Amino acid sequence: MRILLIGGGGREHALAWKMAESPLCDKLFIAPGNPGTALHGENVPLDIHDKASIGDFALSNDINMVVVGPEVPLVQGLGDHFAADSKLRDILFVGPQAAGARLEGSKAFAKAFMKQHHIPTAGYQTFTCESLQEAYRFVESLSPPYVIKADGLAAGKGVIICSTPEEAKDTIEEMLCNNRFGDASKTVVIEEFLEGREMSVFVITDGNSWKLLPAAKDYKRIGEKDTGANTGGMGAVSPVPFAGPQLMKRIEQRIIQPTISGLKAENIPFTGFIFFGLMVVEDDPYVIEYNVRLGDPEAEVVLPRISSDIVAMMEAAACGRLQDYNVRIINDYAICVVITSGGYPDEFEKGFTVTGLDQVSGSHLFFAGLKHDDNRLVTGGGRVIAITSTGADFHQAREKTYKNARIVDFKGKYYRRDIGKDLIPYI
Ligand code: AMP
Ligand code: GLY
Repeated sequence: MRILLIGGGGREHALAWKMAESPLCDKLFIAPGNPGTALHGENVPLDIHDKASIGDFALSNDINMVVVGPEVPLVQGLGDHFAADSKLRDILFVGPQAAGARLEGSKAFAKAFMKQHHIPTAGYQTFTCESLQEAYRFVESLSPPYVIKADGLAAGKGVIICSTPEEAKDTIEEMLCNNRFGDASKTVVIEEFLEGREMSVFVITDGNSWKLLPAAKDYKRIGEKDTGANTGGMGAVSPVPFAGPQLMKRIEQRIIQPTISGLKAENIPFTGFIFFGLMVVEDDPYVIEYNVRLGDPEAEVVLPRISSDIVAMMEAAACGRLQDYNVRIINDYAICVVITSGGYPDEFEKGFTVTGLDQVSGSHLFFAGLKHDDNRLVTGGGRVIAITSTGADFHQAREKTYKNARIVDFKGKYYRRDIGKDLIPYI
């Protein structure tokens, strides 16, 4: 099979590594990829938002399957572009069309979907600039903290948690009437604050059947002890030691199955991954958000724990015969720490030489914001490298990751030293 993978971060490096292992993969292209994906396939400089170029490339390179890593091309309808074209239609496509991608692309849609299908989530209302006064009244009816969410995609930055009603009202006005997140914040969702433990669950689905993939916990804040600004993700751990069989059963029965059945009931076809961001309140799971792809850096701990052939899995999903596929999961811990440029998620400098990569042993190095400059590898983004170690012993796996995190170096390097620390009591 000739495969085109869309994306260029740590998640796509992990996907490329895993897909290239498959005997079904004859040729792998990654668009645009990064120096890490280039170790497993051929990078091609396509604009991932240019549907026509991606379609043309797929046709002229006899692509059999397209796999989409990030959400934006899905929300923009790359899948619809393939489905609508008589020549592209036969190419297997892993990722939902725009209708299904609204689960991630519109928080107002996702909330209404959950309400309609009785999927547990925080209480909420949606507002626009015209209903600003109603939004203020809704804030006054809630107790702090206040959760204000831009409806559309905002690169992971569209959720603001405010501690006072004044701050909440200013944030709402900024979003709705001053375009804080452009079109993404023309509508906002204001929701109840849920206090609990966060975790993420992943499935692959063909729209009828679904298969559970390893669960993960991620660390979104820049600072240790979950302080400071939200980032794309500073680390991840899989499995989630507090998610025992009873909780997992509740998640399957109350959240996953009703989501798949709800999509079907609404005639929304869905092929690909669904990432359920959950808050576990006491022992009850609630959906905080849907994503229509694998997470980054969650993929860097989820994929190393899958021992079955993921190309066969994706092919089965895209052909509507996922029911017959058996996911095999390795019963090890996987612990990932993301090394970032100093200053991220705010302004940061790029172009610093990265050293120590050849001295790393016993861990996977998944490249993200790294690029070639002549013969050197230099920093080229906020999240530079994700380091993942696996092992039956949580502490040993964690120590291996941190040993290697100390070895990789560049000017301004930063990483959180407490990834997984909160989980130690549950081990
Ligand atoms: P999201 O982008 O929707 O995942 O939200 C970003 C982060 O905000 C989540 O990871 C949670 O930590 C937090 N969050 C979102 N919604 C809620 C909520 N209803 N209650 C408490 N925390 C929330
Ligand atoms: N790590 C969070 C995400 O991929 O959305």
